[in-house]
Amino acid sequence: MTLAALLVGSGAREHAIAMALDRQGIKIISLIDKKNPGIIQLSSKAYFVDSFKEGKNKLQELDVNIAIIGPELPLSLGYADILQEQEIPVLGPVSSAARIETSKIYARRLMQEHNITGLPEFYVCTSKEEALSALKDLNYSVAIKPDGLTGGKGVKVSGDHFRDNAETLQYALDLIKKDGSVIIEEKLIGLEFTAQSFTDGTRAEIMPLVKDYKRAYDGDKGPNTGSMGSISFSNHVLPYISESDLRIAKGIMEKTVLAVKKDTGIPYQGVLYGQFMKTEQGPKLVEFNARFGDPEAMNVLALLETSLANITLQIGDKNLKKPVFKNLATCVVYVVPEGYPVNPRSGSPISVQPNNDAIIHYGSVNLEDNGRLLTTSSRTLGILGIGTTVKEAREKAYSSLTGIEGSITWRSDIGIGFE
Ligand code: AMP
Ligand code: GLY
Repeated sequence: MTLAALLVGSGAREHAIAMALDRQGIKIISLIDKKNPGIIQLSSKAYFVDSFKEGKNKLQELDVNIAIIGPELPLSLGYADILQEQEIPVLGPVSSAARIETSKIYARRLMQEHNITGLPEFYVCTSKEEALSALKDLNYSVAIKPDGLTGGKGVKVSGDHFRDNAETLQYALDLIKKDGSVIIEEKLIGLEFTAQSFTDGTRAEIMPLVKDYKRAYDGDKGPNTGSMGSISFSNHVLPYISESDLRIAKGIMEKTVLAVKKDTGIPYQGVLYGQFMKTEQGPKLVEFNARFGDPEAMNVLALLETSLANITLQIGDKNLKKPVFKNLATCVVYVVPEGYPVNPRSGSPISVQPNNDAIIHYGSVNLEDNGRLLTTSSRTLGILGIGTTVKEAREKAYSSLTGIEGSITWRSDIGIGFE
């Protein structure tokens, strides 16, 4: 029997998921809020909705065997809850478990209450007095974070985004005014890494580690973005990460999965994404996401040899097995609209010439009825090179950029300095 999978989401991450399903001959029914030509082409049927809020009503009507939910918004809206009620195995946690991403305060308190290592010092502040006291305790060396979802753009860090203490305090006050509370936490210093894992609520199976490039401009300068690129290595770890770092990160993810179960009574089923900083005191947790990373999904899914549909079924049965990934290196370069993320040029036409060197993932684009492809205000195309080394993967990704035209730009230094 051919399995039919519901795929929710319309970006490059979901295009990567669609490619992984398609490789295994799975029938794809997609629910998209942007007309992504890559996903549409691989889908037997693509349902277009103006928003995922509206798309929720469609979930009862679809005849599918499994479901994979890409972005955080439908997770927060309870898509997995509705699908699980219909006994459909879902890759993606129910909304109460997805709070690990949708509320940074919840994530920090969960780690604290369950004594999970890797927790930075943090304060939740609701007034100017509390903010001032937290800033003083942390010597103004802080990261200031809104509680809820901001597409990776709400966090500001001292030294990088604030000129002085007054600006630091002002940002905290702005967020208190907007949201009622803010997280002020210790600024972590070190190198970041992404550990994504599949989890059935008990086990956490780590995927190849990825280095993500969050800053907008070359040399890791400029504002934070959804990410401008990412690399992974053929041995599935990063050169600056030791066996012990990896063990600690895996332990943090496993304990967190169990903590969610204890806290909500519901197993966390899907992908748990951990962003870590390797500090002098060992790996610390920067944030959790309740889904694959974007672009990190592209790095790992292209290497996944186990069927993603089978993994979803195993997770549904709470019987996850170790997935197998190819021992190859990857490099994703994100093509973004000119001006991204500050003043992105949306609605501008682009043309894309595929080539054999790289895999092109369509991101946040809209295919018009007349065949024109337009940018939106978000990231446009994820270009993935694969090779035996990061250098080779990087060369393949960058050489394909010549076939892309329009008001677009990219970072030129993804993967530089790594062989
Ligand atoms: P987040 O949305 O929490 O992943 O934060 C976005 C980026 O802000 C992270 O990838 C880090 O580069 C930076 N960041 C977040 N929290 C901290 C922290 N406590 N210390 C230093 N940098 C941080
Ligand atoms: N690459 C960061 C994220 O997916 O949130």
